[in-house]
Amino acid sequence: MKHRLAVFASGEGTNFEAIARACADGRIDAEVVLMVCDKPAAPVVGKAGRMGIRSFVFSPKDYGSKAEYEAEIVRRLDAEKVELVCLAGYMRILSDVLLNAYEGRIINIHPSLLPAFRGAHAVEQAVEYGVKVYGITMHYVNSELDGGRIIAQKAFEYDGSDPAEVHRIGQKIEHQLYIDTINKLLSK
Ligand code: GAR
Repeated sequence: MKHRLAVFASGEGTNFEAIARACADGRIDAEVVLMVCDKPAAPVVGKAGRMGIRSFVFSPKDYGSKAEYEAEIVRRLDAEKVELVCLAGYMRILSDVLLNAYEGRIINIHPSLLPAFRGAHAVEQAVEYGVKVYGITMHYVNSELDGGRIIAQKAFEYDGSDPAEVHRIGQKIEHQLYIDTINKLLSK
């Protein structure tokens, strides 16, 4: 039986696509059984549709609270028997509803060497700071912004001032690191 993954995203979904493709061609022994997105207009929604992957797309404003929409997400994860939840550019902090239901089974990718540069603008802040060594972090998720125990990190050197270039270099590293990390966790 293949393992069952959910991927959460809010934007482009390049990590979602990399994970889904790796599952489809056997580089990950799993299936993406659900894509969850909190932004109906995000490009990731079309990507999931074209790949034939079931989605739960919602607007937080349609719910009374975060606890309410997370309870709905948990119902859908449970219904799909999801084993591992992969946050990939899902730009929301999780509450206890999701964290307790999937304790130890939620991971995230972040475009910096944590604990440096948490938040939504990590690359821009690192360039602004003038760092020379950048990186990507995979970590377990807790209730803090980009907090939680680190699983893996990959560093790269860049001596310039173009955030777009750092994003380009980082993105390739992200896709492979996410695939490797999922494989490592599933083989435990
Ligand atoms: C990725 O670079 C990911 O590391 C970042 O969002 C991007 C999503 O790209 N996540 C964070 O900044 C989390 N704080 P994608 O939608 O193309 O996968």
